[in-house]
Amino acid sequence: MRLRIKSFCSRLCRLPAGKLAPVLLAALLLTGCGGSGGDSLRIGFALYTQDDTFISTVAQNLEWMVREAERETGKTITLFIADGRSSQATQLDQVDRFLARGCDVLLVNIVDRTAAAVLADKAEAEGVPLIFFNRQPVREDIQRWDRIYYVGASAQESGALQGRLVLDAWREDREALDRNGDGVLQYVMLEGEPGHQDSLLRTEYSVKALTDAGVEVEKLGNETANWNRAQASARTAQWLGEFGDRIEVIFANNDDMALGAIDALGDTPRSRWPLIVGVDATAPAQEAVEAGQLYGTVHNDGRGQARAMLDMALALCAEEDPAEAVDLVDGHYVWLPYRQVTRENLAELQREQEETGPA
Ligand code: GAL
Ligand code: CA
Repeated sequence: MRLRIKSFCSRLCRLPAGKLAPVLLAALLLTGCGGSGGDSLRIGFALYTQDDTFISTVAQNLEWMVREAERETGKTITLFIADGRSSQATQLDQVDRFLARGCDVLLVNIVDRTAAAVLADKAEAEGVPLIFFNRQPVREDIQRWDRIYYVGASAQESGALQGRLVLDAWREDREALDRNGDGVLQYVMLEGEPGHQDSLLRTEYSVKALTDAGVEVEKLGNETANWNRAQASARTAQWLGEFGDRIEVIFANNDDMALGAIDALGDTPRSRWPLIVGVDATAPAQEAVEAGQLYGTVHNDGRGQARAMLDMALALCAEEDPAEAVDLVDGHYVWLPYRQVTRENLAELQREQEETGPA
């Protein structure tokens, strides 16, 4: 495959304000990555929204790794970041601009996964490899061209691991968890965006881990809070008003929503708190685990996702087989493992994170 040399990138695509550091990483050169001899690489990086804690973590890690790769390889790597602001139309325009500006590879956290075919066809028409991440398009869309990839983690696995955290707590100290002593686990579920595979599968498999193990459960309520802390706080406040101490467990499809539930509990004496679990192991969630507010979470490896995407981008740019750089499944997929995090093993995760990068 030959990556094309595109027009000179005269200015940066829109950079997200605030959270992300400026990312003009070096002077732009007229040569594209253009094969193994190329000494520059332009990466177009499109986020569904910058206003998402986990996605910001992936972005921060990628920026950090790009700088490190520049030092190590001597290549000029330019990272263009675009914030889709939850609009697929906006994101399609941003991708068009990446292509017009000569990006050699596209990394896309798609807003609406049903739009993946349009993006895939654009990328193929321009001969520019496309790596989707975090929001998984259907297999047919990934298979439209052999230079389309997906980097992510199994939603089902994260749900099952979250459920097992609760199962362990139930087995270890059932009396503490089954506060009304009826032998049934009463729970509420804070769900991510409707239709997102992580929302659907985490919701299903977290509870399934308990029922498969023979634990009887009763759902008191479930609501979407769109991955969002403030929305989750509002939903939880309603439930606390409605069900009070009957809630024994709060499942949250991600940590931001778990933190929203914690916000809603406010001054309630800790002895009356339900058990709360999240997914992601973001920095604020780690603090909540440390403080004993969040019982546990499931580490979503944003750093691993960033690493895999950059390694693939560098390999593609050097006309190497990306399967040499990452563990490629079915020619298209890179799967990062999830893992459980509680107070017991938090320090281990933190040590690893300190050694390998930011946040
Ligand atoms: C999930 C993550 C959520 C949110 C979502 C966005 O994997 O757990 O916190 O970032 O992706 O697509
Ligand atoms: Ca009970």
